[in-house]
Amino acid sequence: MIELFDTHCHLDDEKFDEDREAAYERLRARGVTRAVCVGSDLRTSESSLRFAQTHEGVWAACGVHPHEAAAAPEDYLDKLRAISREEKIVAIGEIGLDYYYDLSPRDVQRRVLNEQLDLACELDLPAIFHIRDAHGDMLDIFRARSVLPRGIIHCFSGSRETALEYVRMGFYISFSGPVTFKKAPNLQAAAQAVPPERLLIETDSPYLAPEPVRGRRNEPANVYYVCEKLAALRGMTMEETAALTAENGCRIYGLPFSCEKRETIV
Ligand code: NI
Repeated sequence: MIELFDTHCHLDDEKFDEDREAAYERLRARGVTRAVCVGSDLRTSESSLRFAQTHEGVWAACGVHPHEAAAAPEDYLDKLRAISREEKIVAIGEIGLDYYYDLSPRDVQRRVLNEQLDLACELDLPAIFHIRDAHGDMLDIFRARSVLPRGIIHCFSGSRETALEYVRMGFYISFSGPVTFKKAPNLQAAAQAVPPERLLIETDSPYLAPEPVRGRRNEPANVYYVCEKLAALRGMTMEETAALTAENGCRIYGLPFSCEKRETIV
């Protein structure tokens, strides 16, 4: 059976209040042996951690999303530092810039991003980046820093050239539902161009359901369809793509990886 890694989901979200345990059972049944539940403020960082602590194969990330940047309490960095000491925390995230919704003033988004970049470096944890309509500023911020954490460009939404620019800076590129959409030639070109060792898959569930379940509430089991699309785009088998992206996910999040099939080949 294939082993899939959903590197970014929000199973603690209220949209799963009715059937959270059933959604967890479905992901296990679909071969999703690993998932990372990602926070977007202090409350969801804690609920993501709680979910991870009570479910096998689930880890968590803590961070303040650009939407929530203006609402972050003054001591949010101390709170994140405390949460991050828990064993199941594997990253700082999600953090970044969102100039599409602009729910926090842009200067506040940039300050909170930079503070959490420092925190990720201090704690030696990878960062998970949410970037919407802000690649220019994000690249400028990365270039201006003397040290960068390891990290993931989550739910990547740019061009092939932008993806490769992030790759040159050492980041992983994660694809989600939109790569499966019919009218996504630029995103699909990016998915073909990312070097194999930097490729990740995710659902960002409950958002962004892939084809053929587009428009419904998304859930981690659907990472299967993202994997299937990437396999087709890159001329690989489903098994190879699942193993590759799971191994990459384990590497960036610092989790052990073993795949029985590979060991027998070696
Ligand atoms: Ni997310």
